[in-house]
Amino acid sequence: MSEYQKLIDEAQSAAESSQNAEELGSARSKFLGKKSQLSEAKKELGKLEERDRAAAGKELNEVRKLIEKAFEQREVHLQEEAWNLQFESERIDLSERLESLRRGHLHLITQARDHLEDVFVGMGFTVAEGPEVETAWYNFEALNIPDWHPARGNFDTIFVNLGSPEEVMLRSHTSPVQVRTMENHQPPIYIVAPGRTFRTDNADATHLPAFNQIEGLVIDKGITMGDLAGTIDSFVQAFFGTEVKSRLRPSYFPFTEPSAEFDISRPDGSWLELGGCGMVHPNVLSNCGIDSEEWQGFAFGFGIDRLVAMRYQLDDIRELVVNDARFLRQF
Ligand code: PHE
Repeated sequence: MSEYQKLIDEAQSAAESSQNAEELGSARSKFLGKKSQLSEAKKELGKLEERDRAAAGKELNEVRKLIEKAFEQREVHLQEEAWNLQFESERIDLSERLESLRRGHLHLITQARDHLEDVFVGMGFTVAEGPEVETAWYNFEALNIPDWHPARGNFDTIFVNLGSPEEVMLRSHTSPVQVRTMENHQPPIYIVAPGRTFRTDNADATHLPAFNQIEGLVIDKGITMGDLAGTIDSFVQAFFGTEVKSRLRPSYFPFTEPSAEFDISRPDGSWLELGGCGMVHPNVLSNCGIDSEEWQGFAFGFGIDRLVAMRYQLDDIRELVVNDARFLRQF
């Protein structure tokens, strides 16, 4: 046997070092094929004496078995490796599922509303609320907009089929919260009221039928238009940064006198209309039981969605409501 030990060792290491079926096949034929040393030795058997022939043949068979075993083992091993590679490459990728389990965050509008509240709370305001379904009294009448008033037409109101016609509605602005607050609180009053508002507008790049406003109301002694301008300027700088400017333009609202619209500067130098404001009309104060000789104040209201669109340079405000996670995830 020792005569063949070297051959066995060589065959085993040739099998071990084969990296694939092809390499293994050619190593196999080198050691077990027709021209192999083993096959040659087998041919020589015929030349031996019969007695010796049996022993030599048995020995050759054992050597062949050992070598065959080495190649078989290697073959099984290579086959397993190939299967593993295949399993690995065909494995179903479940990472999308993990992705959808990723932790979410507050919506862009909610973030902006929270930020606005923080800025105003930092300026000494508290946060007030009112219902989304309102009566004509709060949405219009108490705000000095009687039912004959043409300004009602500006609000594109969505009415609710309750009570007498046009008596109940989805609030078309957050200004009714001014009235509710003044009815229930004695001045001084410093509140902001963020919330959802509704109009019959069709959704387009700059309009949504359900949108968000934030209302501000200050009632105190000796309040002037200068306080209003200063408050708007401070808020704009706190929210956008000191490079953004604000300006007031004369305008008209039935519930403020004088009234103004306020704009903020865009990076390109143009102005974006953000909302309306003015000194609270004496009729509104008296509608809410506040003595307009003793108290004065200002109010403002503007769209949060627009503010967000401007801040994040959104081309289309509808992005804010289609709830595409790929969009929302960015913020
Ligand atoms: N409520 C007005 C609007 O929605 C904005 C406004 C609020 C104007 C407060 C003046 C004072 O257009």
